[in-house]
Amino acid sequence: MRRYSRITGTGSYLPPRRLTNADLVAELATQGVETSDDWIVERTGIRARHFAAPDVCSSDLALEAARKALEAAKLQAHEIDLIIVATSTPDMVFPSSACILQNKLGANGCAAFDVHAVCSGFVYALTVADAMIQNGAASKALVIGAEVFSRILDFKDRTTCVLFGDGAGAVVLEASETPGILATDLHADGKHVGILCVPGHVSGGAVLGDPVLKMDGQAVFKLAVGVLEDAARAVLAKANLTEADIDWLIPHQANIRIMQSTARKLKLPMDKVVVTVDQHGNTSAASIPLALDHAVRAGKVKKGDTLMLEGVGGGFTWGAVLLNF
Ligand code: UT7
Repeated sequence: MRRYSRITGTGSYLPPRRLTNADLVAELATQGVETSDDWIVERTGIRARHFAAPDVCSSDLALEAARKALEAAKLQAHEIDLIIVATSTPDMVFPSSACILQNKLGANGCAAFDVHAVCSGFVYALTVADAMIQNGAASKALVIGAEVFSRILDFKDRTTCVLFGDGAGAVVLEASETPGILATDLHADGKHVGILCVPGHVSGGAVLGDPVLKMDGQAVFKLAVGVLEDAARAVLAKANLTEADIDWLIPHQANIRIMQSTARKLKLPMDKVVVTVDQHGNTSAASIPLALDHAVRAGKVKKGDTLMLEGVGGGFTWGAVLLNF
């Protein structure tokens, strides 16, 4: 009998400090940086974001999200045999945030590693976990996206600092006789490294280069709208399904205009698109599992629904996961 993987629990966590656009605009004004609620809402759809306290790391956010996902799946931490954390803002250079989280959870002994694919990190991590479950390398996995992007923002650069937030989302993925994950599709094109990056690196006890996020927003926007349609069509074809079979599109939450464009191309009404970018901003690898958990807990996404998860971001990376929830 074929072995599939299936999501059996979801969880998420946002740090308590919430800044509305008005809060952020006022804070930036004290540093001479000019922006407005109108600009942010009109260009991105973002109205608020959460920022973690200075002593809080990605693994701390991941821990809260993981505990909720485990509770929803009715599992204890020690039953987990695989932890994958998708993050571009790890606690340390090494070891992985997954190892740090594993110890905090008390799941010591299981396989644990990070996946680094920026805003596509969660779909990459889910694809790897699915493959490991299918081939018998794991049976009960925690797959998490966790980020503290506030740490890598340049608050003097209004073109980027208004866009991002912190948070974590988690799923428990278990071996199952029924699908589950129906199809996955991952891609990267490294020739676009420069359009979205944090170029600094550690060398000789110092950070060399600029350790803050740089983005050519328009270039990212143009690539994103093209590849999101391609990835969606690729997983539908692999699963022998059509757009009409999608109950919910849960895209990376970067910009409402990118989501609207993807929905239009897939002929999906916006009421089939899970939107949390207005309340969370862009939380990179955390955005898809955060959006999924919010939709599950709001009673929108129900057992048996067909979900299209789509990520896109730095690398340039992109991908999709089509699944039966
Ligand atoms: O998570 C990974 C994926 N990331 C993304 O998907 C991001 C993709 N890109 C985008 O979402 C959009 O390109 C942005 C939201 C980043 C920018 O929107 P845009 O419509 O492409 O604006 P723009 O860069 O063309 O800038 C338009 C104007 C410029 O002024 P001028 O040159 O027309 O006078 C900017 O200087 O808006 C100005 N501007 C701002 N004004 C007020 C840029 N940022 C701000 C700001 N407040 N925060």
